[in-house]
Amino acid sequence: MSSPSVAGRVPVTFSQPEVAELLSKMTFAEKVGQLWQVNVGEGYIPEDVAHGIRTGHIGSILNLVDVALVNELQRIAREESRLGIPLLVARDVIHGFRTVMPIPFAQAASWNPDVVESGGRIAAAEAAACGVNWTFAPMLDVARDPRWGRIAESLGEDPWLAAHLGAAMVRGFQGDDLRAPGSIAACAKHFAGYGTAESGRDYATTNVPENEMRNVYLRPFQAAAEAGVASFMTSFSDIDGVPATASEFLLRTVLRGEWSYDGVVISDWDSVRQLAIHGLTANDYESAEAAATAGVDIEMQGDAYHQHLAALVEKGRVDADWIDAAAGRVLALKFRLGLFDDPYTDPEEVLPPAPDTAFAVARQAAVESVVLLKNDQDVLPLQPKALTSLAVIGPLANAPREQLGTWIFDGDAALSVTPLAALTEALGDQVTVNFEPALATSRSRDTAGFDAAVAAAAAADAVILFLGEEAILSGEAHSRADIDLPGAQPQLVEAIASIGKPVVAVIMAGRPLTLTNVVDHLDAVLFAGHLGTMAGPALADLLLGNATPRGKLPATLPRMVGQVPIYYAQKNTGKPPSPHSAVLIDDIDANAEQLSTGMTAYHLDAGYRPLYPFGYGLSYTTFAYENIAVDQHDIGPDDSVTLSADVINTGHREGTETVQLYVRDLVGSVTRPVRELRGYRHCTLAPGERQRVSFTLTREALGFYGRGNQFGVEAGDFHAWIGGDSDASLHTWFRLLD
Ligand code: GLC
Repeated sequence: MSSPSVAGRVPVTFSQPEVAELLSKMTFAEKVGQLWQVNVGEGYIPEDVAHGIRTGHIGSILNLVDVALVNELQRIAREESRLGIPLLVARDVIHGFRTVMPIPFAQAASWNPDVVESGGRIAAAEAAACGVNWTFAPMLDVARDPRWGRIAESLGEDPWLAAHLGAAMVRGFQGDDLRAPGSIAACAKHFAGYGTAESGRDYATTNVPENEMRNVYLRPFQAAAEAGVASFMTSFSDIDGVPATASEFLLRTVLRGEWSYDGVVISDWDSVRQLAIHGLTANDYESAEAAATAGVDIEMQGDAYHQHLAALVEKGRVDADWIDAAAGRVLALKFRLGLFDDPYTDPEEVLPPAPDTAFAVARQAAVESVVLLKNDQDVLPLQPKALTSLAVIGPLANAPREQLGTWIFDGDAALSVTPLAALTEALGDQVTVNFEPALATSRSRDTAGFDAAVAAAAAADAVILFLGEEAILSGEAHSRADIDLPGAQPQLVEAIASIGKPVVAVIMAGRPLTLTNVVDHLDAVLFAGHLGTMAGPALADLLLGNATPRGKLPATLPRMVGQVPIYYAQKNTGKPPSPHSAVLIDDIDANAEQLSTGMTAYHLDAGYRPLYPFGYGLSYTTFAYENIAVDQHDIGPDDSVTLSADVINTGHREGTETVQLYVRDLVGSVTRPVRELRGYRHCTLAPGERQRVSFTLTREALGFYGRGNQFGVEAGDFHAWIGGDSDASLHTWFRLLD
């Protein structure tokens, strides 16, 4: 970095006098110590860590969950350091701790903030019982590329849904009071735009125009800030040439400036020093300056701050006031957590939730996270009384660890109830359950087990085929360029389908998969994500009709990976495709004229439609929508708009429908998506029951960042749809007046 930095030109504000009072006693080195988080790892206390805590050079630790060792490090901090400043103790508690909830991507399919919040409560309580007081969740990166392994941790492709569910996850982890036993600080990550990594390859470059960043990728983070999230984490990624960890636009202009956020900002793992690897800086000294100038408070794991902040302040390249501000924010968080009163965790006092309570929450979350994609001839739910033999096929039917999904450092696979175990238990001696893995793993290409699987299918009245991905195939650094079912699974589907028995597929995966090559061979398909500890009982409930599927896709399922990125809230383009304008490759005449296929935005070999759209999900009953209305078509400057419609259960079973509202702003100072989710509601209806569902939108809810990247509401015409997915057809219109 050539010119002197401007770091520190932020107001030094502390809402708590005790923070200012403590800062006044601290040496510069002790203040810098609060800005260093060190990984401890498992099972023992490295002497250099103990020494760093004792001397006030380390203010927080990561990845220690042995409560006795955590208490010992808190004791060293409290009793052996000069000022007795306690430690922040962080862990990635992403979707559960010992009891594992569905991966966030699956939880998002519930569209239920209560599911997300209650899962967060259980996770926080179990983690707090081990001395953890800070989790690095929720992950709020809008994910529109299923090749990207971290879509598994995301809340899907839509900013509005991710904002609502992300705020619920913050509430779940933090509760109403960070001092309360069982509450832990949350962390909105990875700020920001990480999900647009080129080609879905994790850590790859992102280029996000400011208008898109503001209208899409920042929205869930703003919602988390408004929900009181205690911290933010910068992403690894390079954004338009500036890595997030050095982005003054993200951290100063937006987070501190526009949002007036005063919580802690932590880097991602060693992402400060990685600025030199990116090529933004030449060395750790410059990396420390760049991160401090942008406003990263705590450096995770790397020691650039520890090594160089003193010299940077000495040379006037980092402002000493900023050091006070950053250390003050860290101290403020420790006060908010009550750590100065009592940093210790008494395992007798801070008890994890009762297993039955945790399992009940995990089971309900899993039930609500499953999406029914297909159910030909109502083959589901299975009727046990009509069965004598059931074939359960596929390695994921009995894989206690795989069903937990990615990012479960502390998940206890011994607690997992697998689908095989749950089905066997539920069917008892009424039905013979024959299990054949057919493949060693989801990636295996060894088909030696197919014969036994085919024989089991032939002998059965019905087949449940468990397909998908092991946990390792999604998550951080686990991106895939081909998102078909891996290994020989497609061949297994064909072999089993050829038997002619009813075949139900359960897809367990950490991402949307391209199922086009198998879906026609299957009579029914449940998309389950990775459902966690209680995957088995939840799937048995759904397969046997003790529960009815209600999940809705939180992201689009493409026909082909070449369509990616494909998402419902696309722009119209100047040449939008339509059924008659998109002539598909097999329908093109020989020697076709160049202009004969319809000059519009589609792929000759895939069209322009996904296999299943965002918001899609079937039930064991059916729903219809009628009588959409708007309370007034002309919406004045001080008015809101209320849109309503009837939803009717037109089937024979009770079911819960997630009624969705989409709007389109027809003309804007920047082009606007063809649809945007602006509301959803769960309706549980008995057969034949009709409910009127209403949504009231303020003008603010229709606002966006326009041509000058300023937020505003622009007058003009809107279309609105109410229905069961982003393809809803029942529509009306309204007009915003100036
Ligand atoms: C990782 C992840 C981040 C996580 C952190 C600590 O590399 O990017 O999500 O919280 O390191 O484990």
